[in-house]
Amino acid sequence: MCGIIGYVGPRKVVPVILGGLHKLEYRGYDSAGMAILEKGEVVVVKRRGKLKELEEAVTGIDYTATTGMGHTRWATHGKVEDRNAHPHVDCKGQLAVIHNGIIENYEALRQDLVKRGHVFVSDTDSEVIAHLMEDQVAAGADLLDAARVTALQLDGAFAFLVLGKAFPGRIVAVRKLSPLVLGVGEGEMVLGSDTPALLDYTHRIIPLHDGDVVEINEQGFAFYALDDGARLERAPMMVQWNASAAEKQGFKHFMLKEIHEQPVVIRDTLYSRIDIDTGHVDLQEFQGEAVPKRVSIVAAGTSYHAARVGKYLLEELARIPTDVSFSSEYRYGRPIVQPGTLGIAVTQSGETIDTLAALRLQRSLGAKVVAITNRPESTVARESEISFVTQAGIEIGVAATKSFMAQLIAFYLIALYFGQRNGVLDSDSSVRYASQLSSLSQKCEQVLEYAGMMETIARKFYKVHDMIYVGRGVNYPMALEGALKMKEISYIHAEGYAAGELKHGPIALLDQDVPVVGILPQGPLYEKVYSNLQESIARDSPLVVLGDKKDRRAQAIATDFIPMPTVDELFSPVVCALPLQLLAYYTADAKGLDVDQPRNLAKSVTVE
Ligand code: F6R
Repeated sequence: MCGIIGYVGPRKVVPVILGGLHKLEYRGYDSAGMAILEKGEVVVVKRRGKLKELEEAVTGIDYTATTGMGHTRWATHGKVEDRNAHPHVDCKGQLAVIHNGIIENYEALRQDLVKRGHVFVSDTDSEVIAHLMEDQVAAGADLLDAARVTALQLDGAFAFLVLGKAFPGRIVAVRKLSPLVLGVGEGEMVLGSDTPALLDYTHRIIPLHDGDVVEINEQGFAFYALDDGARLERAPMMVQWNASAAEKQGFKHFMLKEIHEQPVVIRDTLYSRIDIDTGHVDLQEFQGEAVPKRVSIVAAGTSYHAARVGKYLLEELARIPTDVSFSSEYRYGRPIVQPGTLGIAVTQSGETIDTLAALRLQRSLGAKVVAITNRPESTVARESEISFVTQAGIEIGVAATKSFMAQLIAFYLIALYFGQRNGVLDSDSSVRYASQLSSLSQKCEQVLEYAGMMETIARKFYKVHDMIYVGRGVNYPMALEGALKMKEISYIHAEGYAAGELKHGPIALLDQDVPVVGILPQGPLYEKVYSNLQESIARDSPLVVLGDKKDRRAQAIATDFIPMPTVDELFSPVVCALPLQLLAYYTADAKGLDVDQPRNLAKSVTVE
């Protein structure tokens, strides 16, 4: 939530800030602002609305500043107004701060500061940081100490950056829980909430740890401990990502590009982990680890749906009892972790605060923990004993697509790996499953050829107010995911149900204005789902069916039929994911909505 960028170096800083904010806009897009050190003064420009409002506000002004910072906001405290946009300044306008996170004790701090004569102009929690800094600096503190002592007074989660008129060429940043990454360039330093914002300047990065304070200036960087100010050593790591991965490359939206990247993502995630001839799965990540007795998975949103598929696979292919919890529920429950339990945190960003807290709880209760994440440098990856890094590459669209696919593939691999190791899978079934898994990339390419068909269906239904998605077994989570994709980007109310549950209540919602999307692969549950779909036809619902391309019975009952390549039911979630994503995409596009930045959402949810 909220994107932060800070820069010190030889370049003019305004284009650097705007470029960085473009890459971070997926984190929040209610308003944007910047503070620069321009000719010895702190100059702040901020605007409510999308980044282009800020861009327009600075267009035509030749700022020469080379030190500055910018912010794109996802509102928590205070409405979306200019005055609540970041940066916030102290009473004299000589210190500026940008903040990501929530200051939980801000009300008490604010009351105290007001009593002491400070004047607040915003409704945000963040503004207290600027005024606390002001007191420190007035008492003679240097920028570094002022930031550190201020941070020690704050409860909650935060990453903040400060600069000041009296401190030319310097920015100090503090991190507690909210993500922040330092990019170490040649003679230039850049701080950002996320790695893609740094890649135009450097591939050498240092993710800040909790409780790190860092100063950047023209000489370089220096790390200190928040608690006592002691100097810390932090070494840069190289990231391989290419900055152009964060471009649309001719697609209308990032989401569409990312949907089309999935065949490659499948290949990359399988690469060198599976031998098609022997069916053998080799996961270096788990070498030397015992096969777990139980698995307990925590995740949020789309990652939670991947985890629900994962539970099915682990129980089916490896016969390991598996439970799945929403991270936000798990962390405040009293979970029971039995000996031999493997905890798995599934998180694309590796920064979802609830998932991080759930993982910490799992660890404290004695579980060994694995991160399935797309971000090896993330906090969740760093705090896990084992990281399974999915190979989805940078995902910019707020709605998760290719990262979901990579998570599914990770679960197939892990389930097959444990199933082979504990003897549930013999060599014949291993070869069969390995061959199915390896064919999925090509099958997904075939499915993408139906993109035009998905657009036609979307254009038929985009004006409806409600939609119901149904599936069974391994495809029940896919019904949940299809509905989530639809609601989050098209704002159509959509719900996913286990097909057999329809008759226990939701069927009352059905009529000619409520389309039903049915996931109907061939397999043991086919007849059951087929009957459930008949029940919705009997209530006049238009029926969109995802079924095997040779399935004449399904074609006969469907209002719209989406032909899927023939796959074993167990692997059908992979091929079904694409049309579900495309249906949501084209529906949102037909409604003229901002697909990549849907309202009220943020890519990385670093607040509770
Ligand atoms: C939906 C979506 C979210 C995320 C959720 C968890 O398209 O993207 O539901 O899946 O916020 O995020 P991660 O996986 O980063 O923990």
